[in-house]
Amino acid sequence: MGGVDYRPSVPPAIHAHALRKTYGDFVAVDGIDFEVAPGESFGLLGPNGAGKSTTMRMIGGTLDRTGGELSVLGMDPGLQGPQVRAHLGVIPQQDNLDEELRVRENLIMYGRFFGITRAELGPKADELLQFAQLTEKAKSKVQALSGGMKRRLTIARGLVNDPKVLLLDEPTTGLDPQARHILWDRLFRLKENGTTLVVTTHFMDEAEQLCDRLIVVDHGKIMASGSPQGLIREYSTREVVELRFGSERNATVVDELTDIADRIEILPDRVLMYAHDGEGALEEVGRRGLNPVTSLVRRSSLEDVFLRLTGRSLVD
Ligand SMILES: Nc1ncnc2c1ncn2[C@@H]1O[C@H](COP(=O)(O)OP(=O)(O)OP(=O)(O)O)[C@@H](O)[C@H]1O
Ligand SMILES: [Mg+2]
Repeated sequence: MGGVDYRPSVPPAIHAHALRKTYGDFVAVDGIDFEVAPGESFGLLGPNGAGKSTTMRMIGGTLDRTGGELSVLGMDPGLQGPQVRAHLGVIPQQDNLDEELRVRENLIMYGRFFGITRAELGPKADELLQFAQLTEKAKSKVQALSGGMKRRLTIARGLVNDPKVLLLDEPTTGLDPQARHILWDRLFRLKENGTTLVVTTHFMDEAEQLCDRLIVVDHGKIMASGSPQGLIREYSTREVVELRFGSERNATVVDELTDIADRIEILPDRVLMYAHDGEGALEEVGRRGLNPVTSLVRRSSLEDVFLRLTGRSLVD
């Protein structure tokens, strides 16, 4: 398993042990352990309902835990919420901007909550508007922004207090590909300057791009942890061949493939053949005259790790 690679002399930015949250009889977070080192970029990857947002809200001190230990920058967010939040930037999954206020004023008002003076906030707001590519929209009402612009404003707002730890819950949902890449670049720069990032996502490419280390969660439990590359090495082969034989034949052709691949997954629309040498495996499929309708060789991804661990696809 991927080890925790912070030095013991440096206290972790976040420490969770046996962390648990229940809603009545329902267990949303089922006793999870993790540590995030200062300056690290840490991810929670999992499907809908895995308990990612619940975990984030406990870290941010807006939701009380049911059990276990949790410390953020050495403090208990359940007991010292305001002190913890002073050093956190929180980007919730759902934008909760003040729709009535204008764009720039949203940043100013949020900064005022942290006791930052208006004099300091002026240049800060302008810098953050640039960061979010919203300078031209400074005077617009929030309700007149597109979904992607609102998302960018929410992210900019989370940076107003120069947080030590940034909690990003599904940061790029609703952003177009270009805006996603720009955001990843900006987050990377924050990380280079020492900000600790905690990111939830169900996008495997986002997890691979952003996270030094991540936990894969499902039904409130940790299924695996490690670096993206480490997880892929541990739970998958180097390459994957995706074959489509048509919905009728996908399941029946498998018997003729098993000895070619290390492992086979049958999905409703395709068959995945896991192999070190994908091209070689695909050539063998051809030699056997199996004639897939389409075929594709690719590198293994975190999606394959998730499928291996849970038998399910991440995005369903
Ligand atoms: N206030 C609540 N009352 C009851 N159940 C809740 C409450 N909030 C969350 N849950 C349940 O807890 C589980 C975890 O929810 P959570 O929002 O943490 O999932 P998630 O991993 O963030 O999912 P998504 O990818 O959809 O955002 C879900 O089954 C959800 O229905
Ligand atoms: Mg969520």
